Amino acid sequence: ARPAADAQLIDTQPNAPQLHRQHVSHKGTYGTLAIFGGSAGMTGAALLAGRMAAKSGAGKVYLGLLDPVLGVDVLQPELMLQAATDLVKRSDLDLAAIGPGLGRSQAAQALLQQLLASDLPLLLDADALNLLSSAAELQQQLRTRTAPSIITPHPAEAARLLGLPTNKVQEDRLAAARELQARLNTAVLLKGSGTICADCAGISINGSGNGALATAGQGDILSGLIASLWLQGLSPIDAARLSAFVHGHAADDWRMQHRNGLGLCASELIEPIRTLLNR
Ligand code: APR
Ligand code: MG
Repeated sequence: ARPAADAQLIDTQPNAPQLHRQHVSHKGTYGTLAIFGGSAGMTGAALLAGRMAAKSGAGKVYLGLLDPVLGVDVLQPELMLQAATDLVKRSDLDLAAIGPGLGRSQAAQALLQQLLASDLPLLLDADALNLLSSAAELQQQLRTRTAPSIITPHPAEAARLLGLPTNKVQEDRLAAARELQARLNTAVLLKGSGTICADCAGISINGSGNGALATAGQGDILSGLIASLWLQGLSPIDAARLSAFVHGHAADDWRMQHRNGLGLCASELIEPIRTLLNR
């Protein structure tokens, strides 16, 4: 991706961590992200992903909404809200994520098809994965892409992609992640307790996180975080591993003060995740 190359060129310390702001840099150094989703009634999913991306260092964040009901996110006015059909035509994007609140309409399917056909690095989540499950030609498009991709299914989404019942996925999560990686020729993050990250080079299990994360929207902030860290120069698998770890760690910190783990909302983790990333 362009931002990674820029960051390396101007970094005088070859072993410096990739996630820190360079003195000689500008917003373009850190990339332009497009997040596609937010159909009627699910705008919040796209907003959560976008807010997390903005608060984890992405240079610029566009939201491409299927239902552009909002002109601005008043709580995060840095986000640029557009109609998905307009945003997908822009030529200045460095990376795209599709899925948060996407829905499964014809319009959503057409958008997915366009993004798969593009040469943008691509993260696929939620309904993008459900659309993929039901269309062999989209799977073939994913398999044969030249640009890198990552999919972030929860166990039921993974099961639909594999044509298995969810309990079979959960019985051997490592095998399920490996199978998805090989069949679809993509990096994979399989969600749940002990999130698994797999690419063609290896596989790992995340140790952080707890049941307080079992609330709607947690997957959306995870998507925004992975896309943002990947945009800033981490490899897709490193972005996924670091995101799963930091997301889980933020939930573990919260759990220290809230022993029973009830009522953690995804939006509440965005600022703690920023703090952890800066530490
Ligand atoms: N332990 C550790 N982590 C957990 C646990 C747990 N017990 N439960 C959930 N998590 C983490 C998962 O690993 C994942 O990172 O919380 C996140 C939940 O993500 P999703 O299942 O994608 O949830 P959600 O944000 O609601 O998804 C939004 O997309 O997946 C679709 O149907 C879903 O419409 C919904 C939308
Ligand atoms: Mg989800």
